[in-house]
Formats: sequence, structure tokens, C-alpha cells
Amino acid sequence: MSLRLGDTAPDFTAQSTQGEIHFHRWLGDSWGVLFSHPKDFTPVCTTELGDVIRLKPEFEKRGVKVIALSVDDVKSHADWSRDIEEVSGRKLNYPILADPDRHVSDLYGMIHPNANDTLTVRAVYVIDPKKRIRLILTYPASTGRNFEELLRAIDSIQLTESYSVATPVNWHEGEDCIIAPSVSDEEAREKFPKGYRAVKSYLRYTPQPNL
Ligand code: BEZ
Repeated sequence: MSLRLGDTAPDFTAQSTQGEIHFHRWLGDSWGVLFSHPKDFTPVCTTELGDVIRLKPEFEKRGVKVIALSVDDVKSHADWSRDIEEVSGRKLNYPILADPDRHVSDLYGMIHPNANDTLTVRAVYVIDPKKRIRLILTYPASTGRNFEELLRAIDSIQLTESYSVATPVNWHEGEDCIIAPSVSDEEAREKFPKGYRAVKSYLRYTPQPNL
């Protein structure tokens, strides 16, 4: 059965460009992003991995460790890393997991046989410090992902974890949030001292509470 939100992220041991990785141990108390690539030496993947090098400090600011996976072996990853560094102009600063026997890909359901029976799709899993899966994205091989959108979603997930709010369409850090429908007006006045405006009885905006 495929993984769903709230499930425990399966643990595994695999080789990577930074040596053997015991996944849960490697995550420790951090948040994690595990993202898969169809294959080494492919153009879209090369651009994606390069952009994650650029964004790694942004993930770190949020307490998130990033790790890529591609079904090829470590030797191939090491050779491909040189291309990624040349194309992006940056040194690879996170591990790429090898998965030649598809063990991890199968555990996570990253191979969608009706799309392609050997290559993984572009999957993303955001994992919280309790190892629960908090977000899943699945893109086809031909469509590169937007990792800034992933940061935006992580901002929302981490904020809504601590406050009784949700975030509206296209929300970005610093913008007004939506008060959770489970919060009564009376509670809202207590919980959100900066006030709120009600557009509908069920749609109430408040300034981002942790700023
Ligand atoms: C790519 O990363 O460019 C790619 C990989 C598999 C199929 C199509 C594109």
C-alpha cells in the first residue's frame, strides 16, 4: 500500500555519496526532505540537484536535512556529482542515496509502473522530527519541481504545528493566516491578541501569530 500523510517514514540503510546512511539515525531530531530522481545524468535532475545546493541554507534555517535518491549506484552518483557541481557552480552539500536494487524506491512506492516500470517518479517526502510523513509530492519525470514552493509549504507546516492557524492560497511567511475553524470567536480573541477580521464566519484572517 502506498504511503500516506501521518504514516511513519520507512527506515532503511543505504549507501550514499556520504557513506552508509541509516535513515532514521541520520535524521536524528531534525525535519527531513527525501526527494527522488528518475536517473543519473539526466537533464532535469541535474538542474534540480543544483538548485537544492543553492537552497540548502534555507532548509537548514528551518531545521530540515535534505537527501536525494536516484536508482543508480554510488560510483555513478560520484561521477554525476562532478557534472552537477560544474553546471550549478556549487559544491554538492547533501547526500545522494544509491538504490540500485530499488529497495528504498519500493519501500516508498517511488516507482509507478504505469508511468515507467524501472525509473522512480519525482517524489518528495517531508518528514517531521517524529518521523511522520507530513507532505508528499509526486511529479512526472519530465517536470522539474519548484523547491522554493517546498520551503513555502514547510513554513506553513511548521507554523500550523504550533498555532491554531491554517495558511491561505499562495501564502508566504509574514502574510496573514487563517484562524482554524475549530477556534470559536471568543477563543480567537484570546489566542490572537493582534485581532482578526472575519470575511465569513468561517474565514477569519489574523496576522501571522509568531511574528
Ligand atoms: C530528466 O531528468 O531530465 C529526465 C529523466 C527521465 C525522463 C525524462 C527527463
